[in-house]
Amino acid sequence: MRILSGMQPTGYMHLGNYVGALKNYIQLQNDPNHETFYFIADIHSLTSNQAHYKDEISNYIFNMVVDWLAAGIDPGRSTIFLQSDIPEHCELYTLLSMITPISWLERNPTYKEKMEEIEGKELDNLGFLGYPVLQTADIALYGADSVPVGKDQIPHLEISREIIRRFNYIYQQDVLKEPQPLLSSVPKLNGLDGRKMSKSYNNAIYLSDDEETLRTKVMSMVTDVKRARKSDPGHPDECNLFPYYLAFCTDEGMIFQIRKDCETAVLGCVDDKKKLVQLLLDVFADYKRKRQQVLQNQNAVYDILKEGAIKAGKVARETMEKVRSAVGMSSKNRYGS
Ligand code: TRP
Repeated sequence: MRILSGMQPTGYMHLGNYVGALKNYIQLQNDPNHETFYFIADIHSLTSNQAHYKDEISNYIFNMVVDWLAAGIDPGRSTIFLQSDIPEHCELYTLLSMITPISWLERNPTYKEKMEEIEGKELDNLGFLGYPVLQTADIALYGADSVPVGKDQIPHLEISREIIRRFNYIYQQDVLKEPQPLLSSVPKLNGLDGRKMSKSYNNAIYLSDDEETLRTKVMSMVTDVKRARKSDPGHPDECNLFPYYLAFCTDEGMIFQIRKDCETAVLGCVDDKKKLVQLLLDVFADYKRKRQQVLQNQNAVYDILKEGAIKAGKVARETMEKVRSAVGMSSKNRYGS
């Protein structure tokens, strides 16, 4: 089974990215029945950040690979690559854009939301409207069966499936494979202020935060707003803190105890936070160690992308040959070589 997923290079990975995606990438990679492809969607970043490839996105790419490697993505098992290293993404995107009705893109909920929400970014461009078409090319090039994504990506995946069906229908061949989304059932982590954890809200805890930063951030977290005094009973299901235990603590007994002690006002929020800091330090101790190692040899990071591009490029070119042939524009067919 072939698995493929990608992320836009947004800089350092935060705990929300880790729980929502990266953890899943690693688990999937470790299953011997899976062939995993993970890529950095740098072309996608240009849809909203056109002028800052050289000074920002390039650094973000590097940091993202470092985070992936430190967290446990293994280049021996997964193909790790950079989207823009494989020109076939753009080629397939162009062909798919010819058969994608604009109305499908205009009714994409992510498109509508972002257009309304995000200020100060240039989104009024063809590439932003066509975001899901490029995403479809990403997936279809590698014949992915499953695409691990967060809930927010489900509408994109549905558009991808529709585009692929339409392509196969128009060219009367099952040349592109329809992918399935793979949702992981993870508790949603909110940021420090209780809103969705996001770099742009400035409320994120990063995998790479040092101990002091982590402690300061966790101690500043908004907890149960209904619990004014320590002697008041807490409501773990309405608290920002508790889902972190669900996400990171593997000891069911401990989770149960924390819930109980919170509900019975035995455990106050401050102590609860101290426990969480310790838990996070333990969970990410390996990551920290590996991160140091990876940073000692920065060239190796780029070598991994180079290797990945060779492997991914081979698959992408094979698919494109089939696509060109299905459309009728194969040079092999025309010139015989
Ligand atoms: N849209 C995805 C995100 O923002 C990133 C992405 C681009 C992607 N191409 C993809 C994810 C292909 C899965 C498959 O998270």
